[in-house]
Parts: sequence; structure tokens; C-alpha cells
Amino acid sequence: MENLEILKSEIVASVNKAQNIKELEDIRVSVLGKKGTITELMKGLSALSVEEKKEMGKNLNILKSEVEKVLETQKSLLEEKELNAKLKNEAIDVTLPIRPENQGRIHPVSKIYEEVVAIFGEMGFDVAEGPDIEDQFHNFNALNMPANHPARQMQDTFYIPNPESQDFDDSFVVRTHTSPVQIRTMENRKPPIRIIAPGRTYRSDYDATHTPMFHQVEGLVIDKNITLAHLKGCLYDFVKAFFELDDIPVRYRPSYFPFTEPSAEMDIGCKKTKTELKIGAGTDWLEILGCGMVHPNVLKAGGIDPNEYQGFAFGLGIDRLAMLKYGIPDLRTFFESDVRWLKHYGFVPLDESSMTGGLSNNGGIAR
Ligand code: PHE
Repeated sequence: MENLEILKSEIVASVNKAQNIKELEDIRVSVLGKKGTITELMKGLSALSVEEKKEMGKNLNILKSEVEKVLETQKSLLEEKELNAKLKNEAIDVTLPIRPENQGRIHPVSKIYEEVVAIFGEMGFDVAEGPDIEDQFHNFNALNMPANHPARQMQDTFYIPNPESQDFDDSFVVRTHTSPVQIRTMENRKPPIRIIAPGRTYRSDYDATHTPMFHQVEGLVIDKNITLAHLKGCLYDFVKAFFELDDIPVRYRPSYFPFTEPSAEMDIGCKKTKTELKIGAGTDWLEILGCGMVHPNVLKAGGIDPNEYQGFAFGLGIDRLAMLKYGIPDLRTFFESDVRWLKHYGFVPLDESSMTGGLSNNGGIAR
């Protein structure tokens, strides 16, 4: 009995001396582990007489639970101490100014995205979204491209197998354009509709002006009595605001998209020399977007009566606009995550684009 008292005070003393969790754990193992002092004493019980066993067993159990308690108390003390030390060590003074060399930058794609949203937002457009992984109905069929339609081949589609069906028509795609958001919008709201849908798009293509993942903005307007004149006025206002010019020559070339009729491509006037591209002057033309009047079949697929409503739609490439506006020669560099590139072409955060506060904040360009 006396021995147990001595043992107890020894254990308690060493527990209280433990400086960290590791030391404490070593002590616990040396006392309560498989070969620990108390464990060994318990093993020794079998050699004792019944009376002694009863007495000693009881005392050992008391000792064991007392030791466990001290260990527990010391453990929480040490844990708190370690946590406090860690907090002190990792403390950050949030009132310190940002180190300029560590400041992050806004990616040009995000910048153009903000600019486009600011311009169309001012005109009363909402931002709509759709999924990157689409079904073929939304990406193709509903856009007047039934199975085997030749236009499907134009798009170098990435298909994704459908785990629930072997039928190729049931396989998914990563959307080849943002146009499926036209259908999703029509399915979910009633006209009048005025939306833009910026987002990621995917095609199997890779060179200086194409990457397998790129960005588009879709535009869709549906109302009664919408005409080609509305489309032209809207896009003209957009390019003027976007390129920050009071006037800019534009022209529309007839084109073909299955989901618009008539379809056109919009060019803006520019001057191309070997070393420079100047937008808004000169005798050259630069294609910047595809557009047209929404095809009656598309309205029908979206649940809208083409005899009552008309609309126009357009699609433009954000990355291409970024290359043009900010003079970035190779699209592939956009997605290489090179911080030196981002430092050069990126934008200072907090310089937000707005129609009133200045769109591109040229003063804020981090170059
Ligand atoms: N979806 C077309 C493309 O990716 C662009 C477009 C959108 C054309 C809407 C007309 C109307 O090329």
C-alpha cells in the first residue's frame, strides 16, 4: 500500500514535469502501456492469495484511474500551451500594408469578363449561367442541330460517356459554346428575356489562338417585335463601350449558324501593320463575334411561341477580346499559371470595371 503511494507520487511528479505531448505520451506508455509499471503490477495479481488479490486489485484500480486523471489534466494543459505558442508564432499583423511584390493580380480573362458584364449590365441584361457538362439536347438538338447535322462536326466536340447508357446519343459533352444557356434560360423564364451568359467552353483545338478550354459570352434578347436593327444597335453600343472609342466602323458579313436565321459575323474596323493592330481606324477588318436572329426552331425548343416572340443572339470569345484589347500574342500563355506573365498582363485588384468609374482603368494596368 505504501509502495503504491510512493509509486503514485513518482508518476504524478513526472507527469507534471512533462514539457510536451510527446514526453507525456512516453510517460503514459511507461506506466499504462503493455509493459508499463501499473500493467505489470496488475499482471502480478494472479500470484497473490484471494484476500491480498482483492485488496491489491482494488488499490491498483484506484491508482490506475487517478493516474489516468492526472495524465488527462496534464494533456489538456500541454495542448493549450502548444496551441497558444502556435497562435503566437503564426500571428499575422493584418494592419501591415501589402508588400507590393506579393500582391495578386486579376487575370485578363476575369478583367474582360467584368468589363463585358459592366457594359451589358448597364443596358439592363442579367447574367445567366449553365453547366460546363451538357447533354446533347441543350448543346446541339435544341439549337437546331439534330443528330448527324453536319454543323456538329464543325465543333471538335469532347464527348463524355454516360454511365447509364451505351447509346452514343445519350453521351454528355463539355459544352462547345455558351449557346446551350439560351435554351436553359428559355426553359426557366418567360419573355421578355435579356441575358448574357459568360463561361467556359471546350473544343479539341490547340495553337497560338486556340486552347481546348476557352471562354465565351453568349447574349440573348427575346421580346415582341425584336428586329435586326435592335441587334445592330446593341452590338454597336457594346463595341464602342468595350474599346472605349466614340466611334468605330462596323460591318456585318452574312454567315451561317444553325440556331440563328439570318446569321452574321460582326467585324470592326482596324489598321493592321506588321507590328501593330490599331482598332477603330484604317481600312482593315477584324472579326469579333457571331450573331443573328434566333431561329424559330430554337424558340420552339425553348418553349416559346415564335409567332408571338422574336429575338437576337450573339456569341463572342472572351479570350480573343483580351488578346486584342491588351495586346497579348499567344492564347496558350493564358492558362500556364506563370506568375511572371500574370504580373505583366494582370490587373491590380480593387480597380473595378464600371461604366461610370472607367472600364479598363488603364491607369491601373500593372505594367
Ligand atoms: N455559338 C456560336 C459559336 O460558338 C456563336 C453564336 C452565338 C452565333 C449566338 C450566333 C448566335 O461560334
